Amino acid sequence: MITTVENELATYGYLQRPVDPYLNLVEEIQALKREKNAVILAHYYQESEIQDLADYIGDSLGLSQEAARTDARMIVFAGVHFMAEVAKIICPDKKVVLPDLKAGCSLADSAPADAFRRFREQYPDHVVISYINCSAEVKALSDIICTSSNAEKIIRSVPPEKPIIFAPDKNLGKYLIKKTGRDMLLWNGSCMVHEIFSVEKITRLKMRYPDAKLIAHPECEEAVLSMADYIGSTTGLLNFVGRDTANTYIVATEAGILHQMEKHYPDKTFIPAPPENNCACNNCPHMKLNTLEKLYLCLKYEQPEIVLDEDLRQRAYRPLARMLEISAG
Ligand code: 13P
Ligand code: SF4
Repeated sequence: MITTVENELATYGYLQRPVDPYLNLVEEIQALKREKNAVILAHYYQESEIQDLADYIGDSLGLSQEAARTDARMIVFAGVHFMAEVAKIICPDKKVVLPDLKAGCSLADSAPADAFRRFREQYPDHVVISYINCSAEVKALSDIICTSSNAEKIIRSVPPEKPIIFAPDKNLGKYLIKKTGRDMLLWNGSCMVHEIFSVEKITRLKMRYPDAKLIAHPECEEAVLSMADYIGSTTGLLNFVGRDTANTYIVATEAGILHQMEKHYPDKTFIPAPPENNCACNNCPHMKLNTLEKLYLCLKYEQPEIVLDEDLRQRAYRPLARMLEISAG
């Protein structure tokens, strides 16, 4: 029988419980974290107030490594569904909760498991490298997982005579083909946030700030990447700013990363790369579904929880473990 909680989670993605407007949510969350032996892992695209409460903030690789490392009883994942799912795949004995179950990812959605299975069956001799932004089902159909910070290393670990399928991000795939010289068969997926940056507006910004450097995430389109002074994962972008001598940066990725950039390097100026329309489309609508209230509720009620079929988890674990091994080496 389906319980009310299951219904509620299926409908809204989180428990709709009243939150006292006078509660100091920051203090409550800190107390609950201690009481429940929980750790908050957050991605750079989360709201600033959530980043400020996190025990660890990082890119997809750092977050997976931190999940593997923590001895907390519960992981509260302030990120999107595939990230929390990775934490559960790596740590089956821990409780993993996500503030909003509906925090998905357009890139992960662009590779439905059934279509991906049919595609891979056509190329049985190919090694399948999947970007971590995909479902557990797609991971289970892959040989090795990669993130934007270790993709080059993972590709180079495959013997040169072996043909490769790279999925699901075609922009990252094209960038890696250029970088490694390796011809790969690409799945036609993309991220809704990284596809909307305007080359024309970035060009105008560069004219206005001639000393500014353009730094970009490799999920951006080729036209933006070809103008960039540096390309890297979110952590890569943050670290680059730290060691680089410029004072101004045009940042072509989700705008949440600016919070850590401004916090770490208050003397530098960061300009979010402008999207095509006059919208806030450089904010990931999935990441931004998580709020402080939902974070509080999920810590308090330990819901919504990531639950995975054990057989699927084991099949998805193999290519992830391979990634962690290659990254560590
Ligand atoms: P990073 O691994 O570089 O943080 O990227 C995650 C992501 O979802 C980018 O859109
Ligand atoms: Fe997915 Fe793009 Fe959001 Fe990253 S920014 S979580 S790739 S939709």
